[in-house]
Amino acid sequence: MTKLKIPVASADLTGNEEKYVVEAIRSSWISSTGKFVTQFEEMIADYTGAKYAVATVNGTAALHIALLLSGVKQDDEVITQPLTFIATANAISYTGAKPVFIDVDKDTMGLSPQSLKTWLEQSTIKRFNKSTNQLETINKKTGKQISACIPMHTFGHPCRIDEIKTICDEYNISLIEDAAESLGSTYKGKHTGTIGLFGTLSFNGNKTITTGGGGMLITDDKELAKKAKHITTTAKVPHKWDYVHDLIGYNYRLTNLAAALGVAQMEQLPNFIKRKRILAKEYSNFFADSDIEFVTEKENTKANYWLNAIILKDRKQRDEFLEETNEAGIMTRPIWELMNRLPMFKDCQCGDLNNSEWLVDRVINITSSVFKKN
Ligand SMILES: Cc1ncc(COP(=O)(O)O)c(C=O)c1O
Repeated sequence: MTKLKIPVASADLTGNEEKYVVEAIRSSWISSTGKFVTQFEEMIADYTGAKYAVATVNGTAALHIALLLSGVKQDDEVITQPLTFIATANAISYTGAKPVFIDVDKDTMGLSPQSLKTWLEQSTIKRFNKSTNQLETINKKTGKQISACIPMHTFGHPCRIDEIKTICDEYNISLIEDAAESLGSTYKGKHTGTIGLFGTLSFNGNKTITTGGGGMLITDDKELAKKAKHITTTAKVPHKWDYVHDLIGYNYRLTNLAAALGVAQMEQLPNFIKRKRILAKEYSNFFADSDIEFVTEKENTKANYWLNAIILKDRKQRDEFLEETNEAGIMTRPIWELMNRLPMFKDCQCGDLNNSEWLVDRVINITSSVFKKN
């Protein structure tokens, strides 16, 4: 007999998902053009308040394109947090740039503005580039340009993004928000992903809404949105029959089949968030009488509670908790290993990572699926 397993996060496809997918199949528009792709983009733009949204095959592709269009070049450096899912660091590597890992805040688990400021002050110089007429931030140790910064809103808890933006503006560093986990989360009333030059979303199977696999790039910049659409669709110059491409493009467009799921999921999103927040409240009450800390939303933020998280006393208690729950068929997972400890990124430059090192020993995700009550 297979053991009952309660997953950390599973999809709710009980709305119009089947209806719209069947509609896409019957229309024979199943590939990368079709009405659902446009409709899904419009729904995301409308929901987040971003002016433009461009659908991609997944969140990693959205990050890759956001980096390229932010001007990140081969041999540049890009700041991010070590406590993130591998995709953030991978996307940086796809551009030929190297990540620089800067600590997170203990409370938000997202990039720390204070650590960012300290590192930039101590480790970089500003220089004016006459040929581009732009201020550049150069790493004193490597001589490389720091061209972008990617904070991540961990588990749907917004980081201190307005402070990070002020610092990035001061150093002329492009700000890309990895909002893969934070659809429905806001910072001072603004949707995450809309504060930086670009925000990127993921609709992977475990996310707040899913298209099986999918992503989205959001921005307020019309020109960049146009370029994003062009470069994610093989950079083909529109023509009735000729195949002319004017750049090295990518085949990163979301399919109409997947977007059909996305439209149905967007209809359900407000209800998903409502239910996730109710579940978080229940967890919060439950853990209030224990020595385990349940991670709650911070000042100025509204969290989607994509994945609920708890903080254990130490690594030993963390491992015991993981062992017992998983043995009992209740899926729990530790937070990701720090990026700078992985073989591909072990030589990357880091700031002081005290908070990340503290959190990685203690944070666990607990079951976070929301099911409709009968
Ligand atoms: C923080 C973060 N960034 C990026 C991604 C990449 O998204 P995808 O799996 O859609 O490529 C994910 C999730 O999978 C994520 O959690």
